[in-house]
Amino acid sequence: MIFSNKLILWYLQNKRDLPWRKTKNPYHVWLSEIILQQTRVAQGLDYYLKFIDAFPTVNHLANAEESTVLKLWQGLGYYSRARNLHFSAKYIVNELNGEFPKTYKEIVKLKGVGDYTASAIASMCFNESTAVVDGNVYRVLSRYFGIDTPINSSAGIKEFKALAQSLIDDSQSGTFNQAIMDFGAIQCKPKKPLCLFCPFADSCVAFQKNKIDLLPVKEKK
Ligand code: ADE
Repeated sequence: MIFSNKLILWYLQNKRDLPWRKTKNPYHVWLSEIILQQTRVAQGLDYYLKFIDAFPTVNHLANAEESTVLKLWQGLGYYSRARNLHFSAKYIVNELNGEFPKTYKEIVKLKGVGDYTASAIASMCFNESTAVVDGNVYRVLSRYFGIDTPINSSAGIKEFKALAQSLIDDSQSGTFNQAIMDFGAIQCKPKKPLCLFCPFADSCVAFQKNKIDLLPVKEKK
């Protein structure tokens, strides 16, 4: 079975039930991804629900006072995320007629949105085949394919992005992206990964060569 099919099969049986997975509303997905940039799912969950409740649409967020937005953000840290959210909400309302941008190319122009977040929104909300690469993806791919290129080198960043892009299932890119993130978070964990119950163990280079603890490689800077 090809990689993406096996991964999605695993996902359907093991996925986490998360509120932003029940929607294709790009504003809601954007909020969730900004919160999750530097915050764990368990902590981010309450904030996501609070924000959706206080600002159900991008208009509500754009029209709020910055102090109100920052107050709701309290406890999450990295306040530039909240300032950028508010700034971008106003930009969407004032410059884009309140319509959330619909392509990777336009989404990545939003302040506070980088390659990862734009890929996540474009794939999950608009079915664009844009692969996400976060810490989970680096870990899963470096182990499965036995790649020791440092993940924080420019060669590594390019190599892993291209690899993820070559594996993505074009007809369900959003599902593929969520699947590889959950697989890294739940199964192919940094410490004590669950290799004994892993559907990929037979063909996982790191597992076969006993190199699980050596991958991914990070270069000292
Ligand atoms: N971390 C960042 N984005 C995520 C998502 N969409 N689902 C689960 N974990 C995530």
